[in-house]
Amino acid sequence: MALLFDPPQNPTYLADDVIAGVCADPGFGKYFTDHMAVANWTAEDGWENDRIVDYSPLTLDPAGAVYHYAQEIFEGLKAYRRADGSVWLFRPEANAARFRNSAVRLALPELPESDFVTSVRQLVALEERWVPSGEEQSLYLRPFMLASESFLGVRPSKRVLYSVIASPVGSYFSGGVAPVDIWVSKEYSRVATGGTGSAKCGGNYASSLLPQELAYAQGCSQVLFVDAAERRWIEELGGMNFFMITSDDQLVTPELNGNILPGVTRDSLLKVAPQLGLTPVERRVSLEEVVTGIGDGTVRELFACGTAAVITPIRSLKDDGHEYVIDVDRATRTLPLRNLLLDIQYGRVDDPFGWTQKV
Ligand code: COI
Repeated sequence: MALLFDPPQNPTYLADDVIAGVCADPGFGKYFTDHMAVANWTAEDGWENDRIVDYSPLTLDPAGAVYHYAQEIFEGLKAYRRADGSVWLFRPEANAARFRNSAVRLALPELPESDFVTSVRQLVALEERWVPSGEEQSLYLRPFMLASESFLGVRPSKRVLYSVIASPVGSYFSGGVAPVDIWVSKEYSRVATGGTGSAKCGGNYASSLLPQELAYAQGCSQVLFVDAAERRWIEELGGMNFFMITSDDQLVTPELNGNILPGVTRDSLLKVAPQLGLTPVERRVSLEEVVTGIGDGTVRELFACGTAAVITPIRSLKDDGHEYVIDVDRATRTLPLRNLLLDIQYGRVDDPFGWTQKV
């Protein structure tokens, strides 16, 4: 039976001026709206108990499986306020499909895609006043699913919690669209072949944290990972996909090889690229090729992308003792691509792909 995620009868909210104050300068992922969607799953009864409740702490027994074995997945998508005040989602079905794939890999129950979309739509409709209207602001939605059974044996949990929380956000990086420096991790890998690389699970992000700290220590904003086997092929950044634009107008990104998160932004950029005269290419990309190309000018631009980061230009790649710096005067393609995606998301241009949907 379809889940409904009915809203509470008499929802209460923080005062309008408090919400307006938060939305004026939200940062990223710091503030949360008044409500959250929740549903439970048990091996006996399947999905049930779907509801929207006040935003509140989750109570979980200390033996809850997620605390011990990290059986958890999540998603990230955004609701955008348009100039006419209406609120729109961008490709929620794509996130729903990825969430289902992540669930399979983490041995969690699959949430039907229509239930995922209903949960997001119902929450956004209820929290409409929390969708900010400033430049490049949005309401970030974070659906997640975790193993809630109290049991220390290592096997898939027989009890699972699904929830969606929402957070008004601005730019992911404090510098906004300013180009960032990236640290190339030669020592640590994000994932290995056969692992969980293409699933959006907390463990992948946990393993990126130490290299991310090393990146910060080098004055860089993100870490870039190469493959674990040959330490040669670029995979992705700590929390974003990687792209380059070549001097012959190819928009190149590492092919999905099971180790790379199939980003919704990644996929959207590959599809809109021809509108800007760029040829989308998915293939193996070696680190050597990129640094050589930066040097001889055949690699013109690099950027990171994701729902949170949108498109963030990369200024340089750094590794031990080397820095490979992009010539910003030649980097003229990234910002138009970024603007085109944002224009579709905010409804400023036609949406030929039918990606946006009104809440
Ligand atoms: C997103 O882009 O939505 C993510 O989940 C990545 C994370 C760095 C915030």
